[in-house]
Amino acid sequence: MGNPYGWIERSLATIHQANWYRSPQALDGLPGPVMMMDGEAVLNFASNDYLGLAGSRELITMTTAAVEQWGTGSTGSRLITGHRDIHRTLEREIAALKNTEDAVVYSSGYAANIGVLSAIVGPKDLLVGDAYNHSSLMSGCKLSGAGFQQYDHGNMTALRDILMGQRSQFRRCAIVTDSVFSMDGDLCPLKEILAIAEEFEAMVVIDEAHATGVLGSTGAGAVEFLECTGKPLIQVGTLSKALASLGGYVAGSAALVDFLRNRSASWIYSTALSPADTAAALAAIDRVKAEPERRESLLNMSNYLRDGLRRVVAPWGDRGFRLLPSDTPIMCMQVPDTATVLTLGEQLRSGGILAGAIRPPTVPTSRLRFTVRADHSQAHCDAVLEVLEKSLGILN
Ligand SMILES: Cc1ncc(COP(=O)(O)O)c(C=O)c1O
Repeated sequence: MGNPYGWIERSLATIHQANWYRSPQALDGLPGPVMMMDGEAVLNFASNDYLGLAGSRELITMTTAAVEQWGTGSTGSRLITGHRDIHRTLEREIAALKNTEDAVVYSSGYAANIGVLSAIVGPKDLLVGDAYNHSSLMSGCKLSGAGFQQYDHGNMTALRDILMGQRSQFRRCAIVTDSVFSMDGDLCPLKEILAIAEEFEAMVVIDEAHATGVLGSTGAGAVEFLECTGKPLIQVGTLSKALASLGGYVAGSAALVDFLRNRSASWIYSTALSPADTAAALAAIDRVKAEPERRESLLNMSNYLRDGLRRVVAPWGDRGFRLLPSDTPIMCMQVPDTATVLTLGEQLRSGGILAGAIRPPTVPTSRLRFTVRADHSQAHCDAVLEVLEKSLGILN
């Protein structure tokens, strides 16, 4: 008899051979623009803590107080064990920020995405999603059992064609999209999507993970930035990026939220958010409202780094290097192949810069991914540009 687990070693060997192997590295210290890695300081251009709140004194104080008052765990699912008032307070605050009737919080953004999609549609229904959607949306689409079609990234003609050809064969339908695409940094064309949704009687599920707290005049997200506040949408997102905590949410009509509390398996059969996570997210929303200057710094620093990256990358265009279009603090430099992105990632790391070397299968083409924080300075960005320029210069 053969070894039924032997395939694991063989699969790992294939992953190594393709230069796709990944493993986490340890970071030390409070989240911030500079952190410690292997005993050395690194400039952190790889975090999703866009507003610089995860290490802030205010959030730490509020979170510590919540643990003192309510303990470390929520001890069970909300329908069976009950919840704390702060869970509902957080949901009301999310709904107020998003300008929706209600919201419900999940234990992660991933759980929210699979939870909402598998609750709102089933085998008689159709989901149509952008090809660059986040893995959690893809998983939710598959898990739902609905018919699932992908349209080319941002291509509204392709979306329309799919609906034109298939919508009438299904009962319910939803268009599913990230608002900010996490591995590119560009935005979905939400107004066009909403118009198509209206034409084909489709719901729209939009993932605001990288937009909440970051975009829009009040920090409500891309829906606000793209002037679609109050439109018929199901908004999902995470508490783990600009909101500096852990957890996810769905925001929409009161009926939708009530329905999810009765039909969404990843909410019903999962333990409530911990008091610490809940309090941290609440405190972060309070900062989003009270400190618009954090968003302003983030925007300014993003523009500064983007201009610099354009300048550094431009001479390398004919060798397959390209800065991908971005409207957000996420900026990606496309690189010709996996080996080159790994080399560049290592060179940046030895130059004291932490940035993502993103490879297939996460993305179709390899890229260096930089994320800006509100507490980055021009000097931090200049350091990135200098090390990147040198690293490109020594590629053969
Ligand atoms: C677009 C998008 N949606 C959902 C998620 C999942 O959120 P969470 O980390 O809270 O599970 C992420 C990243 O983590 C993301 O980038």
